[in-house]
Amino acid sequence: MGLSADFFERLNRWQAVVNEGLARFVPKLSGQASRLTEAMHYSLMAGGKRLRPILVFAGAEAVGGDPEKLLPVACAIECIHTYSLIHDDLPAMDNDDFRRGKPTCHKAFDEATAILAGDALLTHAFRLLAHEELEKTFPPERLFRLWRLISEAAGLYGMVAGQMADLLAEGKPVSPEELYFIHHHKTAALIRASVLAGAILAGAEARKEKNLSDYGWKIGHAFQIVDDILDLVGDEKTLGKPVGSDLAKKKATYPALFGLEGAYEKARHLLTEALESLSSFGSEADFLRDIAYYVLERKL
Ligand code: IPE
Ligand code: IPE
Ligand code: MG
Ligand code: MG
Ligand code: MG
Repeated sequence: MGLSADFFERLNRWQAVVNEGLARFVPKLSGQASRLTEAMHYSLMAGGKRLRPILVFAGAEAVGGDPEKLLPVACAIECIHTYSLIHDDLPAMDNDDFRRGKPTCHKAFDEATAILAGDALLTHAFRLLAHEELEKTFPPERLFRLWRLISEAAGLYGMVAGQMADLLAEGKPVSPEELYFIHHHKTAALIRASVLAGAILAGAEARKEKNLSDYGWKIGHAFQIVDDILDLVGDEKTLGKPVGSDLAKKKATYPALFGLEGAYEKARHLLTEALESLSSFGSEADFLRDIAYYVLERKL
């Protein structure tokens, strides 16, 4: 088993859908707000794999939902992710100068603008999660569950807590449990929420929801382990961001704790477990299976 022959074609097709959605759902304002929305669009449209929004579609598809109806949700999650990258790159955090193949937001604009562009992307995400198109399509109880899911994954129970732990661990020896906490929160939480978002709105039954939640956690962890690995062995041009950045800041990473081969081994194990979580699904989850392979094989 491995990637389907048409995987990259499907990925590109969905990436185009996300890009069109972002152009439609994130406004470009004129006048005194123009610099703010310029900075938001600069980072949003600089590229990016669009993995999280595509997981929203794939999660819905796996339980018979219609991905097209989820575009505002997919775009909202990409806004949250892009905000996290803008803030992650700031001098006060990872202090990186390149992202998605271009100067980071604070380099292209300035620090204050980058902070505000991040703030506005995060806030706008929740405007999109309450979009009229969703209100017309989905029952309120599903939408409320969605809002709880995303706010928990992005905030103090998820990504922001992980980013705090990541910074506190710089330059210090960490235990495997502490490293697990960092990856679980800073990266896996939003990836898992992306898979579940589509499934929850599509009205998945509880058992399938649990399977997709397990799948999301597993690929989420694998994703950050591979990100750590690529910081060591990746190609800067392909990645569009600096390599060696984690070493320079003595970050807590899987290769630092378990060695490169140990980190690969953990990622492979997570891939196997992710695929096992989908064992009760048929071909409707093939795209999710492909994404799990892709998370491991990716060079970007
Ligand atoms: C980078 O995320 C930050 C991590 C959580 C590792 P991605 O690798 O998904 O970045 P883009 O969206 O493709 O630029
Ligand atoms: C960041 O992890 C995770 C986020 C929530 C943004 P990293 O700091 O490793 O991400 P990169 O390597 O800068 O993309
Ligand atoms: Mg970071
Ligand atoms: Mg970083
Ligand atoms: Mg990294």
